[in-house]
Amino acid sequence: MKVLARVGLTSCAGFLTGCSGVQSALDPHGPAGEELARLIWSFTALCTVIWLMVMGVLAVALVRRRRQAADPLETDVQSEHAASRAVLMAVVATGLVLVCLTVLSFFANRTLAGIGADAELTIEVTGYQWWWAVRYENSEPSRIVTTANEIHIPSGEPVRLVLKSQDVIHSFWVPALHGKLDLVPGVVNTLTLQADRNGTYRGQCAEYCGAQHAHMGVLVIAQPRVEFDAWYEAQLQNAAEPSSELARQGRDLFLNRPCVMCHKVQGTVAASNAGPELTHVASRKTLAAGTLSMSRGNLAAWIADPQSIKPGTRMPTMNLTGDELNAIVAYVETLK
Ligand code: CUA
Repeated sequence: MKVLARVGLTSCAGFLTGCSGVQSALDPHGPAGEELARLIWSFTALCTVIWLMVMGVLAVALVRRRRQAADPLETDVQSEHAASRAVLMAVVATGLVLVCLTVLSFFANRTLAGIGADAELTIEVTGYQWWWAVRYENSEPSRIVTTANEIHIPSGEPVRLVLKSQDVIHSFWVPALHGKLDLVPGVVNTLTLQADRNGTYRGQCAEYCGAQHAHMGVLVIAQPRVEFDAWYEAQLQNAAEPSSELARQGRDLFLNRPCVMCHKVQGTVAASNAGPELTHVASRKTLAAGTLSMSRGNLAAWIADPQSIKPGTRMPTMNLTGDELNAIVAYVETLK
């Protein structure tokens, strides 16, 4: 199991730095993930036993056939009856196995449905082509946090996810924590997320949703309650006032370019929610929904030419000069 988990880690770490978790349903880190892993292993064990039995019977049949040298056209009533009984027993056994698998699956579903009925925190996750909008509900509007592509949760606590879609059908899947659930336009689905250990768990859109379906990653970061609360408070703050001249130039460019048509930076006039929220974008681990790790170089590459990194993305190429790009990157880097 651990070997498989490491394979997941390798493919994940290929383009993610700081990815301490894995993206493997066989390395569960929460109650729903554990229940599903149990189901996977019981199905696998049962099917393995059946396969071995079928192969055993086949081997016996082949060996016995070779020993008999009788006329193949000659029929023997007794052995015909024995064969009929064997077929009947096999049919009954198949039926029993199917009932057994159904019962296992039913109990697993019942356990999954019972997890986290008392969740305190509700997070709305909306699928867009090709990123995830994340919004933490709160009865006080001033305490609602919006972010993108990265979901922080307190570890050991159930969290209710409300799944919606803005355009086409997507599917939210963080294999180490729970099973897949679709985000369907016009439909609201709910899912309980719970991570029992601190860590970063990678997820992936699991329903083909267009050209960049493969570049629609999501990170779930489970952290101790105290750290989660600190993160939450930081997210509520307006964007920091840039301290350098270059970053100030970058902010002015940002606010006077089409960037404001799609993005929100709390505390400025940029207030659109057509694209990912950017108020604290530089504190996130990845860019472009898990496509690139967060770094100055990747930020510059992404802003300079998003279409070559994620062809078809809604983010247009803005034909910035080198100096403009440098200033905008300096500004975005201050959005911690
Ligand atoms: Cu969204 Cu695939």
